[in-house]
Amino acid sequence: MSKFAHALTTGQHNARRGWTLPMIGAVGLTLLLAGCGKSQAPSFDEQAAMAQRLQRVGSVELQAGNAGGAPKTGEQAYQAQCAACHAAGALGAPKFGDVAAWAPRIGAGLAALTNSALKGKNSMPPQAGGALSDLEVSRAAAYMANNGGAKFAEPKGE
Ligand code: HEC
Repeated sequence: MSKFAHALTTGQHNARRGWTLPMIGAVGLTLLLAGCGKSQAPSFDEQAAMAQRLQRVGSVELQAGNAGGAPKTGEQAYQAQCAACHAAGALGAPKFGDVAAWAPRIGAGLAALTNSALKGKNSMPPQAGGALSDLEVSRAAAYMANNGGAKFAEPKGE
């Protein structure tokens, strides 16, 4: 009797397991598929929205005349193109941070200073000879003038 009972129990047990495992598998698969479907639908929208955002950023960059990223700050532009002469005052350039050298120039205003940097002045080549946008050159001019005692606001992009 006990042997039979044991066989019965084992049989039942096996039978239950035989049914339970595929069921768990099926439920798991369903959940997995549902989960995938759920995360895929909005992610498509998200990708579209992201592409739109990127496009918008991209067109702003083009307007700023800079294909390599956001327009440089005054300090970045100065380091990239202006420090070569202005850090040490080469070729008679007003030296960075030299208040006495900058004071008479600052009086002309940021527009005039930017214009000199854009068009060139004596030993200073137009646009500092580099690949900066007009906005970046004006920011660099403001940055340098400010470190020479001026209080110009950094020109903003469009
Ligand atoms: C090749 C050297 C050189 C580089 C590079 C250079 N400058 Fe100059 N810069 C000069 C010299 C020289 C002067 C003095 C010109 C003068 O008044 O005769 C000057 C003067 C200036 C002035 C004063 C202009 C004025 O009207 O009094 C500004 C502003 C200026 N530079 C901005 C810049 C900016 C901004 C950059 C970088 C984008 C830059 N410079 C890069 C040589 C340079």
